[in-house]
Amino acid sequence: MEIRGLKDSMTVDQFTAFARRKINITSKFIITACIIVVVYHLYYQLQQRAKVHILETRFATEGKTLQSIVRRDAVLQRLTPVAKQADEPPRHTSSSHQFYSNNVMLKNASTILNPHPYTFTLNIPDKCKNDNVFLLIVVTTSPANFDQRQAIRDTWGNESNVNGVIIKRVFAVGMVDNSTVQEDLEREHGVHRDIIQEDFLDSYRNLTLKAVMVWKWAFQYCSQASYVMKTDDDAFVNVHKLVNHLGQLSANASRRFVTGHVYVDTEPIRDPASKWFVTKEEYPRDTYPSYPCGCAYVISKDLTKLLFETSLVTEYLFIEDVYLGICLEKLGVDVVNSHKFWSMYVGTIPCSPQFDFIATHWVKTPEAMVTSWKALNTNCRKSFFGLWDILRDLW
Ligand SMILES: *[C@@H]1O[C@H](CO)[C@@H](O)[C@H](O)[C@H]1NC(C)=O
Ligand SMILES: *[C@@H]1O[C@H](CO)[C@@H](O)[C@H](O)[C@H]1NC(C)=O
Ligand SMILES: *[C@@H]1O[C@H](CO)[C@@H](O)[C@H](O)[C@H]1NC(C)=O
Ligand SMILES: *[C@@H]1O[C@H](CO)[C@@H](O)[C@H](O)[C@H]1NC(C)=O
Ligand SMILES: *[C@@H]1O[C@H](CO)[C@@H](O)[C@H](O)[C@H]1NC(C)=O
Repeated sequence: MEIRGLKDSMTVDQFTAFARRKINITSKFIITACIIVVVYHLYYQLQQRAKVHILETRFATEGKTLQSIVRRDAVLQRLTPVAKQADEPPRHTSSSHQFYSNNVMLKNASTILNPHPYTFTLNIPDKCKNDNVFLLIVVTTSPANFDQRQAIRDTWGNESNVNGVIIKRVFAVGMVDNSTVQEDLEREHGVHRDIIQEDFLDSYRNLTLKAVMVWKWAFQYCSQASYVMKTDDDAFVNVHKLVNHLGQLSANASRRFVTGHVYVDTEPIRDPASKWFVTKEEYPRDTYPSYPCGCAYVISKDLTKLLFETSLVTEYLFIEDVYLGICLEKLGVDVVNSHKFWSMYVGTIPCSPQFDFIATHWVKTPEAMVTSWKALNTNCRKSFFGLWDILRDLW
């Protein structure tokens, strides 16, 4: 190998000087490179912290009471067409409820205030069979949201995302009054075998029926799952963080446990123009009990059956998460707030230990779902000194 400047005729002194010069140049280069890496790392950290700060400010201003619901209302009005104000769900005679007659609370048929006489038209009875399921995720969705469901399957909803833990994920829908959509839905179910459907009309005012359906299916067909997460199809879930979080809970959290983004002391909206308008007849009290955002919450397995049974003796209210709060209050279960559950849209996910999220909301399109998933898996890749990020950014 030829080394520039190295000659056979050099004396020992000349050679020593030559070697010093070479080493000097090399070490200068290494030191400079190190400084660049460190400065860039600091810059990157500051940038991430700034992003988290912006998000935290938004989070703080979101408020916890009426304002947040009003804002949620405003956002919804912009994003989705206002659901038409529909009739009360039907009140059925309670004679069909002998099935639950072994329960003392339900023995007196006249106490059934919210019957659930629906049956599954699409089902996956063997979904959880023989498996030591840790987490069941039920995503409520509308029959026509084909692309959104596929985006979830392709991203956070893939059951094999987390190694060593058995996760089951299903989609829950009601009936649709359109045979084309129903046929497509059945075809989709034929391919993926991951849809459950009950025979009530899928509509905004029937969302609570869907929540009840989720609790019912969970205890009837997947009662072994330690935890059940219920999300909407516009929620984005960091399943790794979720499994970690649940795994670290104390043994107390294995029963009568509920967690999510909790609303405290919210007031019913008495303005008829609002999507969340609730009359005094529907709900007479001035505040709602604490409830987790229906967008994403987790309950321990014992609660699925208890919630279902409680719903039968609890007057219907169409706001599904408030209704959950009412049932939990009856059961005497406290809701545990977690700052890791976000009720709003976060956009691109910054990677920082401070931004420790489990679920975010308002991911309204399949493209946003895929972008968020990619961001999660590249931005947050663990690496020495964030070297991966630096190299990727420099590239
Ligand atoms: C059922 O409950 C109603 C009202 O709560 C009561 O009037 C009735 O006597 C009860 N019937 C039985 C068989 O306990
Ligand atoms: C889920 O992930 C596994 C492993 O990465 C992959 O083999 C499988 O095709 C994925 N399933 C779907 C529906 O994307
Ligand atoms: C049924 O849904 C399809 C697809 O969304 C739509 O094109 C069609 O007009 C609908 N049919 C009726 C009768 O509403
Ligand atoms: C709720 O579902 C029931 C059963 O299908 C239906 O009769 C009722 O009209 C639906 N209610 C609304 C408000 O859509
Ligand atoms: C679990 O519950 C018991 C009894 O209510 C209580 O004494 C204990 O502090 C709880 N442990 C944790 C970690 O919350």
